[in-house]
Amino acid sequence: MLATQLHPGSIPIALVGEDRFDAWRTTQSATLQNWASANAFRGERGKVLLVPDAQNKVAQVLVGLGKGVGDADVSLWHSSGLCDRLPEGNYHLATGLPRAAAQQFALGWLYGQYRFDRYRRAQSPRECKLHVPDASVDEAVRLNSACTLARDLINTPANDLTPVRLAEAAIALAQRYGATYRHDRGDALLAQGFPTVHAVGRASANEPQVVDFTWGEPGRPRVTLVGKGVCFDSGGLDIKPPASMLLMKKDMGGAACVLGLAQAIMDAKLPIRLRVIIPAVENAVAGNAFRPGDVLATRKGLTVEVGNTDAEGRLILCDALALADEEEPELLIDMATLTGAARVALGPELPALFTNDDALANDLTRFAKEAVDHLWQLPLWSGYDDELASKVADLNNVSPSGFSGAIIGGLFLKRFVSKAKQWAHIDLYGWNAKDRPGRPVGAEAQCVRALYAYLRHRYAA
Ligand code: BES
Ligand code: MN
Ligand code: ZN
Repeated sequence: MLATQLHPGSIPIALVGEDRFDAWRTTQSATLQNWASANAFRGERGKVLLVPDAQNKVAQVLVGLGKGVGDADVSLWHSSGLCDRLPEGNYHLATGLPRAAAQQFALGWLYGQYRFDRYRRAQSPRECKLHVPDASVDEAVRLNSACTLARDLINTPANDLTPVRLAEAAIALAQRYGATYRHDRGDALLAQGFPTVHAVGRASANEPQVVDFTWGEPGRPRVTLVGKGVCFDSGGLDIKPPASMLLMKKDMGGAACVLGLAQAIMDAKLPIRLRVIIPAVENAVAGNAFRPGDVLATRKGLTVEVGNTDAEGRLILCDALALADEEEPELLIDMATLTGAARVALGPELPALFTNDDALANDLTRFAKEAVDHLWQLPLWSGYDDELASKVADLNNVSPSGFSGAIIGGLFLKRFVSKAKQWAHIDLYGWNAKDRPGRPVGAEAQCVRALYAYLRHRYAA
């Protein structure tokens, strides 16, 4: 919990950098100096020192920032693991920080208290309240709720988060903020112009879905978000080996992060006209599954030869992007757990950003850095575009070379966007691969804070 006001008797939290430790130490009382020495505390990253008073009650908390971390570099990851290490009570940040860093610290406090307890007996939540002067509680709560929505969706396994459940999550969000929506499912997708979504999703007993919602006054700048909602990716007939299939409940991470971002935008009432399109499917194996070699019709009219049924994300996205593109949005962004190749290149923490608009790339990267929700640009290298050639269709969904898989995925999507003023594609992982304080192995909301920061800057009055 965050407190808007300083609670009487609240315990101060002081942040201490490792390289500033000696200078800081000399300004402290002999008692505190001795206590820090006795506990071998030197401001190391992640170290927490509880300082007792004469009655052995906690009088103060010291938190190490580690080396090379100035006040302006304090991020949500410096506070995310804290609550777990402190006794219940009221705390406040006693170190003065620049506004953005204070906001980060407040957000991290909430972010680190996330638990996914849907399938096990929950421990009773601990009452740790923090007051951060100069931080907006509303803004921290807004972003944390947005990330929580994304994390819950990603963590929920495919037996419970079926395509219709993902669609329902999108509809619930639309209804909560008074957005108007369309919902198409099953064979109706064919009549509604979503042949690729139908082809990829038809083999599952859980039928494919598309949700398309619009929020905000019509005259405002049109921003459209598209998210890959593959609730489980078995690979289809080009089935994945066990190790590659294990985490594929998270293959709707793009949709989850889009929904989280949409919630933050609508909650903050950003003056845009927001549109969200979520194609939701399960890439399953059955007698009616789409096959390698099949030629699929697409919404845009291009035909696609299926080189590999495991490159299904780009197939469902191409119809969603074509639909989004039809009304010429000012800004079109898609998010997807699209390729393993992006993970080979950048690892789990850095979503790959693709766009031909250099100014947009610079701005997105800059705001991502400020939000400590990083993005890394990779090129839409046109020299590889010919690798999508097909002998029987307008294009293939994979390249025969096997090189530069993340770029090929981006180039495939690019064929379906022509009218949007700006388009960006983000290939993300949506998962924490290792345990860190306040960041357990499991779902990670990526790009939500980054894109929110960018859109707020671009559009907020
Ligand atoms: N959902 C996967 C991509 C993925 C794999 C994301 C592992 C995160 C971790 C996607 O649908 C896929 O299977 N892509 C294939 C494409 C290939 C067949 C061209 C891949 O990356 O191997
Ligand atoms: Mn796949
Ligand atoms: Zn996939």
